[in-house]
Amino acid sequence: MNKNILCIGAGYVGGPTMAMIAAKCPDYRVTVVDVNPARIAAWNSDHLPIYEPGLDELVRKTRGRNLFFSTEIEAGIRACDIIFVCVNTPTKTFGSGAGMASNLQYCEKTARQILEHAETSKIVIEKSTLPVRTALAIERILNCQDNGICFDVLSNPEFMAEGSAIKDLENPDRVLIGARQTERGRKAQTVLVDIYSRWVPQERILTTNIWSSELSKLVANAFLAQRISSINTISALCEKTDANVSEVASAVGMDGRVGPKFLNASIGFGGSCFKKDILNLVYICRTYGLDDVADYWESVVRINDYQQKRFILTMLKAMFNTLAGKRICLFGFAFKANTGDTRESPAIAIARCLLEEHAEVVITDPQALPNARLDLASIMSTTDVTLSQSRGSLISFIDDPYEAAVSCDAITVMTEWELYRTLNYERIYNAMNKPAFLFDGRNILDHRRCYEIGFNVYPIGKTPMTHFIDDAE
Ligand SMILES: NC(=O)c1ccc[n+]([C@@H]2O[C@H](COP(=O)([O-])OP(=O)(O)OC[C@H]3O[C@@H](n4cnc5c(N)ncnc54)[C@H](O)[C@@H]3O)[C@@H](O)[C@H]2O)c1
Repeated sequence: MNKNILCIGAGYVGGPTMAMIAAKCPDYRVTVVDVNPARIAAWNSDHLPIYEPGLDELVRKTRGRNLFFSTEIEAGIRACDIIFVCVNTPTKTFGSGAGMASNLQYCEKTARQILEHAETSKIVIEKSTLPVRTALAIERILNCQDNGICFDVLSNPEFMAEGSAIKDLENPDRVLIGARQTERGRKAQTVLVDIYSRWVPQERILTTNIWSSELSKLVANAFLAQRISSINTISALCEKTDANVSEVASAVGMDGRVGPKFLNASIGFGGSCFKKDILNLVYICRTYGLDDVADYWESVVRINDYQQKRFILTMLKAMFNTLAGKRICLFGFAFKANTGDTRESPAIAIARCLLEEHAEVVITDPQALPNARLDLASIMSTTDVTLSQSRGSLISFIDDPYEAAVSCDAITVMTEWELYRTLNYERIYNAMNKPAFLFDGRNILDHRRCYEIGFNVYPIGKTPMTHFIDDAE
């Protein structure tokens, strides 16, 4: 019947994706399992483990009806016909390929668990982002026993973006399903096509060979990140030449061949995927001896680091070459708006640099403060001990942005939350130390208005607006 779906991994991808499948396919029973009991408990509570607009409503509609969250992985494997693998695939931190390759241990462990507990044949779907040709390794693990149980491996990478996951899942640009080009492979592919066909128009469901599908996900993320790095390189040139990066981006983006999206200059990209997936692509290219190709893509990550360093240098230079003892407020800590996720957030790197400069750091964010606390604790544990002892009390987390800004010397916008566009900057300015600085790492504020209020304003890729007489000369 193929009506029992299991998802292994209840994270940012597993939870929302399965909630959508459960909502669109009420005749399927969807169970999401995870090794982390706290995460499963949160999925079963009123406080879901992740923030995503529209997610609460979707889970409320489906949970207990045909969507279930559980820690019973073995029972889940026995009961299901279709398994989505949504475990994490972080960058390897040890051994060969450390800092570049994907750590596939969670994925391999999952395959071995499936093999151990399956009592019937199943379709196993890679939804995690994996290096091209991982399906071969999974197939080899799964099909190593000669007991009549067969596993068909499909690749179905997830393209949703955090912050708009529910919209993206409901109305995806495309759904990609890769399969072995055999009779069995195509049959399994059809089962998954049928599930998505419940709500995704046929022409947006792409069926390809399995290697193209695995590789396309890495390439899609590399292309998206490349656009951000490209415009960020131009922001540096704009700052030297009095060109305005927003004007340049509009002029370039209006060319239909280029398009306007992902051309906002900023402090740089973050999130759990872009950097990890590009580095993985770079590593794969190097293992095939394609060093020129690897160097090209590696530069996308290098430029992202460069942009963050540039931002700190701009702050340092603007604030008279010392940040020591100055109170700096970070507006936003999430890696993007509408999420509480802070993985690889540029704010982490900026906070680290500020602490190294002996600044006092105040963090505010509408959703990400719990994760920011964990990130900062980990920064302190890896930073010089005397520094962490002396600076430990000098990090604060404050919900209310007005309160956070009180007695600060500077505000730095780290996340493009809509909230920050709408604040009363006059009130904020009045409560700050003078001269008051504003570093807009997302170019979202009305810079002229902020300048007129009294701030010294430093956007990205635009001429700063300051009240220092010698600057105007
Ligand atoms: N976050 C995104 O925006 C996004 C988008 C597209 C694709 N992806 C990819 O999807 C995958 C998952 O990403 P995520 O952000 O959901 O990660 P995540 O860390 O939020 O979730 C992964 C979950 O898998 C669980 N897990 C690990 N090993 C397990 C095992 N053996 N059995 C049961 N559970 C196990 C972990 O406990 C964790 O809860 C990654 O490969 C990622 O690259 C992520």
